[in-house]
Amino acid sequence: MPITRPADVPHPLASPAVGAELQQGLLATHAHVSPKFLYDALGSKLFEAICELPEYYPTRTEAAIVARYGAEIARAIGPGATLIDLGAGNCAKAAALFPLLHPAQYVAVDISYDFLHEAIGRLQQRFPHIEMTGLGLDFSQQLVLPAVVRPERRVFFYPGSSIGNFTPDEALAFLQRVRAASDEAGGLLIGIDLVKDTALLDAAYDDALGVTAAFNLNLLRHVNRLLGSDFAVPQWRHLGYYNAQEQRVEMHLEAREALTVRWPGGARQFAKREAIHTENSYKYRLPQALGLLEQAGFGTVHAWTDPDQWFALIYARPLAR
Ligand code: AVJ
Repeated sequence: MPITRPADVPHPLASPAVGAELQQGLLATHAHVSPKFLYDALGSKLFEAICELPEYYPTRTEAAIVARYGAEIARAIGPGATLIDLGAGNCAKAAALFPLLHPAQYVAVDISYDFLHEAIGRLQQRFPHIEMTGLGLDFSQQLVLPAVVRPERRVFFYPGSSIGNFTPDEALAFLQRVRAASDEAGGLLIGIDLVKDTALLDAAYDDALGVTAAFNLNLLRHVNRLLGSDFAVPQWRHLGYYNAQEQRVEMHLEAREALTVRWPGGARQFAKREAIHTENSYKYRLPQALGLLEQAGFGTVHAWTDPDQWFALIYARPLAR
């Protein structure tokens, strides 16, 4: 049985703590909901569609880096790794590495377990000799891996610039936790989106077809299911734009009119144009990214980028403790 959800690991979003977390964010002066709530089954599919959009450059830019430097990357990592894919989604990025990397075990971790389950089932058929495990976990606050994950040669794979969802301080703490979970023979292969022209960033997060808008708005339906709230999607508008001051893209959901949202045990009024902050996507300059990794305890660092320097794929080896 290659796909496991260990008995001691509950569905990551099906806990009473989740209701409390959502309620607290909705009642804050500046209402906010964590971007992890973008990923129910439909949200994961909408994100897959975003990755196909001409405006959304990160996925194809990162894929082009892997296509061009894959052999070099695989040589830096070496065969026989325990490849731990943090936020695996459809597992396509890891699958592109398998023919070069030859990992001994592939551990796919994602908050959307059902989506992951389907993806990993398909992948196991294509690569029957790689031991595969799927874990439905929210690893954003703590990184606790069950015993099925081999301790040797752990190579964490954190592609797509998901690190951008953390503030730089949170990103540092997260990378320190990854460092603590790695052994000296392992490492971290991480994709980081770089600062670039504002118009390109604005278009990437507010595309012409409205797929990113649907992705953001779908969060309201997910919250309705988890919290029992009565958000009405047509009352909300998607905003996605680059905030150069903060070096991040922000997504918000803005009320089109004055309205009240109710849920069991609570309610929140929104004025017209008042917004819920749903995501930050921080962008880094390459030296900032390398500095962050070094601060987190990663020493030797190789960085590969595309010709436009839009995106960096970095392999970092832990410094001896
Ligand atoms: C999955 C967090 C890397 O920030 O670009 C895409 C999510 N949000 N479009 C990103 C996202 C809107 C994405 N990450």
